[in-house]
Amino acid sequence: MTDFKDLIANEIFDEALGLEIEEIRNMIEIPADESMGDYAFPCFRLAKTLRKAPQMIAEDVAKSAGGNPAFSKVENVNAYVNFFIDRAYFAADVIKEVSDKGDSYGRSDVGNGKKVIVEYSSPNIAKPFHIGHIRSTVIGNALYKLYDATGYDTVRINHLGDYGTQFGKMIVAYRKWGSEEKLASDPIKTLLGYYTRFHDEAKKDPSLDDEARETFVRLEAGETEEVELWKKFRELSLAEFSRVYDMLGIEFDSYAGESFYSDKMPRFIQELKDKGLLVESQGAQIVDLEDYGLGAAMITKSDGSSLYVTRDIAAAVYRKEHYDFYKCIYVVASQQNLHFKQWKKVLELMGYEWEKDCVHVPFGLVSLSDGDDVVMMSTRDGKVVFLEDVLNTAVAKTAEIMHEKNAQDVDIDEVSKEVGIGAVIFQELSNNRIKDYVFSWDKVLNFDGETGPYVQYTHARASSVLRNADAADLEAIAKGDIDAAYLSGDSAYMLAKLIYRVPEIVIEAADKYEPSILTRHLVDIAQAFNKFYHDEHILVDDVNEKRAKLALVAVSKTVIANCLGLLGIKAPERM
Ligand code: ARG
Repeated sequence: MTDFKDLIANEIFDEALGLEIEEIRNMIEIPADESMGDYAFPCFRLAKTLRKAPQMIAEDVAKSAGGNPAFSKVENVNAYVNFFIDRAYFAADVIKEVSDKGDSYGRSDVGNGKKVIVEYSSPNIAKPFHIGHIRSTVIGNALYKLYDATGYDTVRINHLGDYGTQFGKMIVAYRKWGSEEKLASDPIKTLLGYYTRFHDEAKKDPSLDDEARETFVRLEAGETEEVELWKKFRELSLAEFSRVYDMLGIEFDSYAGESFYSDKMPRFIQELKDKGLLVESQGAQIVDLEDYGLGAAMITKSDGSSLYVTRDIAAAVYRKEHYDFYKCIYVVASQQNLHFKQWKKVLELMGYEWEKDCVHVPFGLVSLSDGDDVVMMSTRDGKVVFLEDVLNTAVAKTAEIMHEKNAQDVDIDEVSKEVGIGAVIFQELSNNRIKDYVFSWDKVLNFDGETGPYVQYTHARASSVLRNADAADLEAIAKGDIDAAYLSGDSAYMLAKLIYRVPEIVIEAADKYEPSILTRHLVDIAQAFNKFYHDEHILVDDVNEKRAKLALVAVSKTVIANCLGLLGIKAPERM
């Protein structure tokens, strides 16, 4: 695809200007006002070298740069040279590029040779995989895809919460009140029930807490019986989580969670001691971070068992040594900001200068609006909404809508999955990730709003137009045999411009850890496509005009599908 800034810089370049091409390129602006062209070059800086008024320089530059067919007009307004891209040239350029690249349009190689770890989802074993986990899961998956698309070598890690004192409680509860069959039939709800019962009973009989603590110490020491039970809980929980991951189309390269680091901890505790960072506080070992306004990071408890932050220290060093990452990204809720600040500070104090390559990517809370009929469940601390139930509800509601709309020739069973789940994913990725938001079915499933279903519907619409085209037309556009002069209208130009920017948008979204940048751009593309579709008749009688327009429809379809794919969403052909 033509890099218009490069093209302009080369047109302008002249030794007499005393500027390198790259410097000229960096001076080029994109005017806010479209009547000032697509690109503008300010001449103020040249006045000194050329000893001429900037306006006169702009006049000269405009004259000498005017001959290139990529521009329909080059003119100066005061000290600016304004470049107007030739719309037909531009459309032809964009269409050729997208047609040539197909599925890989939007991808780039800026990250070649660099390894990026994306840690996401990371639910806790034996606890519900609830609506709160969806954000890390879906944002993390999109970030992985964005890094993959920009050429990085990626590793997807699910840092399972599969360790900690709660497993002592769970084991004690299971031994006292457990039933093997119940556990096998509905593992997480059953385990959760044990956990809740443990807390109730421990209020009456505090010795249970001591028993749980001792049990966890035995687990950490690798005692067979405890380890066997813990393994069983872990496997049963993972099987449940996997059902949700399958529905979302999400995979991981590693499930090395907290337990993976349990035997790697002594090294770090020793290291912290040797570096003079450990202080004793009421029997526990802490790193004092008061000087940095970060309180205290507890490294071991008074019974010697390790803690969350300790396991994160071990995990970071392990990842550095094992993967030698360029960047390690942690997609974890903003409620854990303090934890991550403490952990980074400890790594820094330990002298690991690569801690700056560890990035906590926080996100806001999701809450539920009233009156939703998602399945609620009472636990000790109120209501839990299981993610699996949310996804199933999304699919069921979508199927209902599709039946109401009387969708023709559509495999509703299949497509309602793609659309229902896509809708939930899209909603998660629509807002700035740091914002809190309220989950509402009306918003998620609105086919006309800035939603997943709207974008998918746009894709299906483009597919339908192409299905209705003649084979000869499709053959001609596949050969690139089109006259792009028919694509000079405003709506076609707007659409082509948005498509042109996709590769840079993908890079920006990855760099800023912000999938919503791509989501919003995709909504813009869908809206521009629909405007084009309404403003212009596509299947017109004039063959050349029809083919040019169909070619733009075809690349729009490709681009929408590619962008949806980068967000982890399917692009149905019909809906
Ligand atoms: N399991 C934790 C939770 O559910 C999230 C783990 C985040 N990752 C980490 N390396 N600390 O809250």
